[in-house]
Amino acid sequence: MSYNRSVSADPHELSPETVWEVQMPAIRVGAGAADELGYQLDQIGTTGDQRGLIVTDENLVSVGHVGRIVDELESDGFDVDVFDGVEREPSISAVEACINFVREEMGEGGYDFYLGLGGGSCMDTAKATRAVVANGGDVLDYVAAPTGAGEKLTDSGAPLILLPTTAGTGSEISPVAILSVPEKNIKEGISSPHVRADAAVLDPTLTTTLPPDLTAKTAMDALGHAIEGYTTHRYDNLLRAEDPADRPVYAGRTGFTEMFSEKAIGLLSSNVRRVVNNGDDIEARGAMLKGALFGAIAGLTAGASLAHAMAYPVGNNYHTNHGETIAALTPASTLGYNVASDPPRFAEVAEMLGADTSGMSTHEAANKAREEFVNLQRDLNVLPSGLNELAGITTDDVGELAESTVESQQRLLRCNPRPVTKDDVEEVFRDALHNWK
Ligand SMILES: [Fe+2]
Repeated sequence: MSYNRSVSADPHELSPETVWEVQMPAIRVGAGAADELGYQLDQIGTTGDQRGLIVTDENLVSVGHVGRIVDELESDGFDVDVFDGVEREPSISAVEACINFVREEMGEGGYDFYLGLGGGSCMDTAKATRAVVANGGDVLDYVAAPTGAGEKLTDSGAPLILLPTTAGTGSEISPVAILSVPEKNIKEGISSPHVRADAAVLDPTLTTTLPPDLTAKTAMDALGHAIEGYTTHRYDNLLRAEDPADRPVYAGRTGFTEMFSEKAIGLLSSNVRRVVNNGDDIEARGAMLKGALFGAIAGLTAGASLAHAMAYPVGNNYHTNHGETIAALTPASTLGYNVASDPPRFAEVAEMLGADTSGMSTHEAANKAREEFVNLQRDLNVLPSGLNELAGITTDDVGELAESTVESQQRLLRCNPRPVTKDDVEEVFRDALHNWK
């Protein structure tokens, strides 16, 4: 029997889940960590006479990060090629260009190792390229049906190390590569434990070149992961998987994920003003990278919820930046509609965001989280005041957006801590048009 999910806390006849798990790449963090790449490669079984590929974009070549990594690897005896053709929010054909590059240079066997250097787009292109080269065929063979053939990956392939140059997406630890399908105006993922990298190197000196607006946008995505992970349903509110292989990627919160959420919300909310105002503040950049990592460990294990579900149709229809979309949606969704699911938990979030809730009732403190989050965004001065300023979205558009959310995002909506109907989603979209005047 296939198992059913339940987000209800009501007792049910079938057994609740009793097991949770954590899968993670090897992680190295700190200023100068990128200068230890040779050692890192050695640790995951790569030897100095092997040939690797750096998957990146032209901007990261021009600001010098790629040259720095190439020099570091060549000084350790590695031979490296560079593919700098990654496009923003990569399409399937853009990833195929990278795969073709690999096959032309190295044949079907591909490189001995891969590095993904950049934001989520570069890391996802590297993850998808490595996976398809290792398993053969084309990208569409592994994309979920009906867009692709939905074949399962069986081989992780050559070692892959990811080096983020933004602090936000969490792609460096996630088991998913997100690709756009422009013909259908949708995004699809290749999702498998075989997609996850072997190692992640988080060096804040690689993030200083990120401009203030992108710094703020990616930070809001990271905060979204941390808060959504903290406030989603518990893992034992799902029914037990009869086969461990059927356990969902987004498996609900546990004591483990809550610990990371809590730390992430504090690190991100207390350092984002510093990095937006001074991009060279290495200490604060390091705190943001750690915050984004912890947020991803929490949110991408426990599971994202309503804000992420609503963000995908907005991104697909209006081609908005993912972090900026999460920023616009979070006050009305995660910190608005969802508050009723567990007010004491949201009161804790308010405190993690730095609010003083002393003397407040639980209800007042829970609603303070939204106010604190909006104040933070206003202070940063580079984020839109809501969906209207973000993409010109008006009340005329919310019906269609709600419909496509409910149609295409059941995977995330089912995990939302408060049950949600199409009318609810429409109301939340309306509420998210203007977070401040
Ligand atoms: Fe996200």
